[in-house]
Amino acid sequence: METLALPSLFCCLIAFSTFLQFCIAVDTISSGQSISGNQTLVSSGQVFELGFFSSGNNKSRYLGIWYKKTPGILVWIANQNNPLTDASGVFTISNNGTLTLLNQRNHTIWYSNLSRVAQTPVAQLLDSGNLVLKDGVTSSSKSYLWKSFDYPLNTWLPGMTIGKDTNNGGDRFLTSCRDSDSASPGDFTYKFDYKGLPQIILRRGSIKKFRTGLWNGVRFGGLPVPVNQYFVPVFGLQKDVVGYLFEPKAKLNNLRVTLSQSGILQGILLKKGSSEWTITNAIPNDLCDNYGQCGANSVCTSYKSSICECLEGFIPKSPEEWKQLIWSSGCLRRTPLDCQRKDGFIKLAWVKLPDLLEFWLNKSMSTKECEAECLKNCSCTAYANSDIRGGGNGCLIWFGDLIDIRGYSEENDISGYSEENPGQDIYIRLPASELRSIHKSNTKKRLVVILMVSIISGLLTLGLVFSCIWKATNIRCERKKEDVEVPLYDFTTIATATNKFSQANVIGAGGFGPVYKGHLCNGQDIAVKRLSKDSRQGLKEFKNEVVLIAKLQHRNLVSLLGYCIQGDERMLIYEYMPNKSLNYFIFEQNESALLAWPKRYDIVVGIVRGLLYLHQDSRLQVIHRDLKASNILLDINLNPKISDFGLARTFRGDESEVKTDRVVGTYGYISPEYAVDGTFSVKSDVFSLGVLMLEIVSGKKNRKFFHPDHHHNLLGHAWLLWKEGRALELLFTCLEDSDSISQVLRCIQVGLLCVQKFPEDRPAMSCVLSMLTNAEVILPEPKQPGFFIERSSSNAGTTSRNEESSMENAVTITMPEAR
Ligand SMILES: *[C@@H]1O[C@H](CO)[C@@H](O)[C@H](O)[C@H]1NC(C)=O
Ligand SMILES: *[C@@H]1O[C@H](CO)[C@@H](O)[C@H](O)[C@H]1NC(C)=O
Ligand SMILES: *[C@@H]1O[C@H](CO)[C@@H](O)[C@H](O)[C@H]1NC(C)=O
Ligand SMILES: *[C@@H]1O[C@H](CO)[C@@H](O)[C@H](O)[C@H]1NC(C)=O
Ligand SMILES: *[C@@H]1O[C@H](CO)[C@@H](O)[C@H](O)[C@H]1NC(C)=O
Ligand SMILES: *[C@@H]1O[C@H](CO)[C@@H](O)[C@H](O)[C@H]1NC(C)=O
Ligand SMILES: *[C@@H]1O[C@H](CO)[C@@H](O)[C@H](O)[C@H]1NC(C)=O
Repeated sequence: METLALPSLFCCLIAFSTFLQFCIAVDTISSGQSISGNQTLVSSGQVFELGFFSSGNNKSRYLGIWYKKTPGILVWIANQNNPLTDASGVFTISNNGTLTLLNQRNHTIWYSNLSRVAQTPVAQLLDSGNLVLKDGVTSSSKSYLWKSFDYPLNTWLPGMTIGKDTNNGGDRFLTSCRDSDSASPGDFTYKFDYKGLPQIILRRGSIKKFRTGLWNGVRFGGLPVPVNQYFVPVFGLQKDVVGYLFEPKAKLNNLRVTLSQSGILQGILLKKGSSEWTITNAIPNDLCDNYGQCGANSVCTSYKSSICECLEGFIPKSPEEWKQLIWSSGCLRRTPLDCQRKDGFIKLAWVKLPDLLEFWLNKSMSTKECEAECLKNCSCTAYANSDIRGGGNGCLIWFGDLIDIRGYSEENDISGYSEENPGQDIYIRLPASELRSIHKSNTKKRLVVILMVSIISGLLTLGLVFSCIWKATNIRCERKKEDVEVPLYDFTTIATATNKFSQANVIGAGGFGPVYKGHLCNGQDIAVKRLSKDSRQGLKEFKNEVVLIAKLQHRNLVSLLGYCIQGDERMLIYEYMPNKSLNYFIFEQNESALLAWPKRYDIVVGIVRGLLYLHQDSRLQVIHRDLKASNILLDINLNPKISDFGLARTFRGDESEVKTDRVVGTYGYISPEYAVDGTFSVKSDVFSLGVLMLEIVSGKKNRKFFHPDHHHNLLGHAWLLWKEGRALELLFTCLEDSDSISQVLRCIQVGLLCVQKFPEDRPAMSCVLSMLTNAEVILPEPKQPGFFIERSSSNAGTTSRNEESSMENAVTITMPEAR
């Protein structure tokens, strides 16, 4: 044994010592030293590496910084606009202490601007990705003579400030890259705007695409609160925000924010112990993030069935266009302002304030004075507090059209506040006559509300009495109460209910583990999802996620009753659905007869409503990522309920911790961009929904679809029929009544719009709902669907290398996530 053990110990030592040498090697260069060819600097913790790389067809060479583990991902380039044309570059510290990049003829092609000359200049690559120049080895961060963090490209790293630093007058902003092959700058910028109140604006050239909303003293009014928390404001002398420091709550070297070539700001995380990057947030995130999506004088609220609505007292400028869901022309006043007599204001609560185009600002005015100031000037259209601290103060006044207002809450006039709502109140000026008519209609609404409330509270009282009686007779069923409002079930209770997780009780198996039917001792039936152990999560994270999932309450979602934890075991307890899944009802010969067209249509609309709620609920956005017929359960009245939602989110761990390298999707439903690149968005769910809609209409499975005339899948078949004007042949049955026929055609067209190849072409969920339910909405012509490619015929004996054909053979897959 000993003789065997010795040599291997030796190997370890040798390996270790070379590793040590390597570590010590170089994260600094000092005066007289240089880097050239394939030499690099590596930060002391082996996180970042600096060196030369080639890019583009003409092999231009650049000096850059990249992640040591994933060398393809550059975070900084020195000579972005001045590439070397051969392999000759030398990076060094010149005589006067400047960092310089020399070419073959010893000409300086790039150098660092310095405010003063250093005695003993030393350049060091830090573990944060910052290349710094300092005087002497031990000088502190305040005395850096130069740092690469002051010259950001398209990547915002933790610790980097965007905006103006108080020490250094330069304005730092992100610029996209032109394309993946070239280091040269692209069209998009993400830059502070200091006109009035600070906000960060994403622009393409000079055109605004997205803005974070105004800094209201606490946060940006148009960034979701959780995203806001990633950033720390940097205050200047005036106590106003001058910059924004990217500083994740946990100290993370593996998180970056990148402005992509297509102008999307992405939060990207490197999973622990892996070399795969995953996008965790993206902005713009939905239609309402698009600058001025709804035109002037309107509010964009993404979860409403019509996302754009005119402000009260305003009407669409072009009613025809609004019917086609083209909102850009915006809204006009119904009645002009009446400057002579008294105008008034109507409060619009919890919104992202309009952009500052023409405005006036006085930070020391009170709200009352602000209102009076607005009434003084006939062109004033609205006012709001410039600072929300201390109940609100300061005065911001708008003149002319109000652009880019975004709504967040369902009940704009009552309870707009939620922890995730970054918005604030604005007062819109209206003539007295409009105010009177709004007042009247509100009084009517209020009466209806009061009536409803009294009926509901009556019913509730009755329900309470009943539930008390029920509780009294069911004391034996133990449920431990925890600090969360979701019940924690005892493990023995669940084991007993499922007959010790007997195989006979298994009613399904999803990507996250098996599902058991259970019967509690109080008579209630439950479905128990036993999460697979490889998706194990910390106790606290798991509880937090359970609370989040439990908050998702909608009639088209399966409700979570509670959870159970025992050692490594994590279980979710759901309501039990006696009627099995949609799968069974649309694909099984005998059962499919039960579902006539009108019921199928109701099911489609129900699924869309459930998804709309998941995507655009203002508290947290949930992308389902495994939407398929078998995940739609039907209740006793055949109402659809989506199951398995929130799990993808739970088991990805979107912030500091990622425990699993796998995400779940199902071939046949998975979108092209997800299958090929691993990128997902709400539009990936829209794709799956489109597949599901076509399956519901046709009663055929996309994945198993065969046609004697061609080898396309169901999507391809539907599109071919659509183009030939024979779409109705797709229907599973025959219909005579013309209303239903137009409904079927609308459903097929919307389905085809949802499965279009490019995510940006697919409609948002709110549009899907308006398109389905509003016959007045004019639908666009669908483009080619994703995976429109003929499969090789089965048993042909050839192994086709394209994604599409191989996908058709797999069943449910659990695929590792790409980039
Ligand atoms: C560095 O470059 C030299 C010459 O160009 C080459 O011989 C050597 O293999 C390279 N080293 C590495 C690690 O690529
Ligand atoms: C240092 O030298 C470079 C050229 O070598 C010159 O461009 C630069 O202005 C000098 N900087 C200072 C601070 O003297
Ligand atoms: C560039 O400078 C280096 C060192 O000072 C020197 O050895 C080399 O000959 C110079 N090359 C040219 C082309 O001047
Ligand atoms: C140095 O500063 C000047 C003026 O501030 C600027 O024009 C120039 O682009 C800077 N050079 C570099 C390499 O940053
Ligand atoms: C090489 O390509 C880059 C962009 O791809 C361009 O900026 C540069 O001018 C090109 N250089 C040469 C020598 O053609
Ligand atoms: C701002 O408002 C305060 C209080 O009304 C007033 O004293 C001050 O003069 C105003 N400043 C400007 C620039 O109008
Ligand atoms: C009203 O405001 C506009 C825009 O700031 C300004 O040009 C105009 O002079 C103001 N009118 C009065 C009467 O103050």
